[in-house]
Amino acid sequence: MSSVCWGIFFNREIIRHRWLNKNNQAIVTDTAKGIAKNYSQIQADTHEAFLAKLLAMEEAREINHKSLLLKQAQFDVLKTFGDFRFEKMSIPNSIDVGVLKTASFVDKKGNLILYGSVGLGKTHLATAIGVEACNRGKRVRFFRTSSFVNQLLDAKTEGSLRRFFKQLSKTDLIICDEWRFIPFEEEGAQLLFQVISECYERKSLIITTNLEFSKWNGIFYDEKLTSAIIDRIIHHSHLIVFEGTSSRLENSMIKSK
Ligand SMILES: Nc1ncnc2c1ncn2[C@@H]1O[C@H](COP(=O)(O)OP(=O)(O)OP(=O)(O)O)[C@@H](O)[C@H]1O
Ligand SMILES: [Mg+2]
Repeated sequence: MSSVCWGIFFNREIIRHRWLNKNNQAIVTDTAKGIAKNYSQIQADTHEAFLAKLLAMEEAREINHKSLLLKQAQFDVLKTFGDFRFEKMSIPNSIDVGVLKTASFVDKKGNLILYGSVGLGKTHLATAIGVEACNRGKRVRFFRTSSFVNQLLDAKTEGSLRRFFKQLSKTDLIICDEWRFIPFEEEGAQLLFQVISECYERKSLIITTNLEFSKWNGIFYDEKLTSAIIDRIIHHSHLIVFEGTSSRLENSMIKSK
């Protein structure tokens, strides 16, 4: 069969085997779309060779796509669930380890607040979830909150704030690491509030912090702004509280024996 005939065959099969989502609506997967787009470039003498090339091409396309998503996420350090121990944290009933490991709360535009003192794995967990989300084809952006605010202020000064917001609007998950008191100007606080408002019920947010809500006034100066931010963030949020001794301290080479 020529590649054109195979193409017709694949297109027909893709249409025939459309997946059904939970509302029984037909969905065509990215893989199916990729196959439909790329089959015509394949040269092969036999059916088997055609199929092997098609699958290899599709696999390479998926790997490239995931690598691009990981690069765009701009994680500080790459961390995964491979070496993560689910300890020193209380996970609320509204969520479970499976949901965290599959980052499936992102599909529901859920938020996570990872709260606790230093060295307990908040950044590791947030990053591992972000990496898994990329693996599942989601667009993620990782920011240290202070640098995020500086980027927002710079974008405003340079007149590129609209473009910056447009890029953010394409993400599925925004991670604000180290959400704590930072001496940024009031304008920075307002820009951060704008981001939170834009995210509300449209995308997922993960915040890591060691500041309890009652101290968030210190971040945002203004009590009304703080209440408005907390209100938006905690709606659809799962709060994971970390407690215990810092893993940095436990693993420190200079700890006392
Ligand atoms: N549960 C865990 N499983 C595996 N490694 C962990 C765990 N908790 C912490 N670590 C490791 O300990 C170090 C500190 O963790 P991490 O940076 O995530 O802490 P943190 O809670 O974000 O601290 P901080 O509040 O100072 O930012 C990292 O190298 C991390 O990989
Ligand atoms: Mg951290």
